[in-house]
Amino acid sequence: MHFVSLLRASLVVLLVVASIVSRCDAASKYVNGATIFGRCANFSIQAGTAVSFNGGPTSVGTGSVGVAPGTAITGNFVQGTGFSEACTAPAIDCTADELISYGYLKGITCTNTLANSDLAGITLSPGVYCTGSGFFTLTAGNLYLDAEGDANAQFIFQTATTVITSANTKIILLNGALVKNIYWQVGTSVTLGLGSSFMGQILAYVSITVGGGVTVVGRLYAQAAVSCAGNDSITLPSQW
Ligand SMILES: *[C@@H]1O[C@H](CO)[C@@H](O)[C@H](O)[C@H]1NC(C)=O
Ligand SMILES: *[C@@H]1O[C@H](CO)[C@@H](O)[C@H](O)[C@H]1NC(C)=O
Repeated sequence: MHFVSLLRASLVVLLVVASIVSRCDAASKYVNGATIFGRCANFSIQAGTAVSFNGGPTSVGTGSVGVAPGTAITGNFVQGTGFSEACTAPAIDCTADELISYGYLKGITCTNTLANSDLAGITLSPGVYCTGSGFFTLTAGNLYLDAEGDANAQFIFQTATTVITSANTKIILLNGALVKNIYWQVGTSVTLGLGSSFMGQILAYVSITVGGGVTVVGRLYAQAAVSCAGNDSITLPSQW
């Protein structure tokens, strides 16, 4: 009896140690996108309540467009390789994994607290970025992300509230930076300005509003609505 319970106890200890070790591995690399996105990996757009494509036709080059538990995917869009998943089983699965992914990203410790919330005109090296003010803007100018030659270099942005980019701003990747390694955990909502160019996986607690003629390479996931103003181009990163 004692031997059996001792065996059980050591098994429990082993399992606990194993799970701590694997969690630490994941944390040291920040994010394993393929793992955290799980059943969302093939979705370029996913919303909780509604996805709307207004104005001129938006091109969703690769990736599925999903909504769950809401059911509305409306408006004018042209889809490449993906599917339209209006509260289908894959969309319901994606919403579940999106909530897990959001929580995971939010839980990563911020290592670089920027004094200025405006990302315009600056070059960032890999890291986990936040601001004291709890939001980011990209006003006049571009944001440069420099991987310094490391294809695994990750850039994680965390906000308590918003991310707002101005018209015609761009994110420029330098020295081997890859879109698959860029993440935006947003406490409320994202607004992407007219004609701007954005990169990375956005996970917004509330909504994402994409202005007209915007180019996004990455993912747009919002727990409420995603709306595109028109003539936008949304595609998954080419590598995953
Ligand atoms: C994503 O799509 C690819 C190609 O269609 C497929 O092989 C893969 O299983 C899909 N992954 C998920 C998570 O649905
Ligand atoms: C999209 O393109 C059309 C045709 O060029 C234009 O009329 C419209 O204003 C553009 N913007 C939006 C948001 O649809």
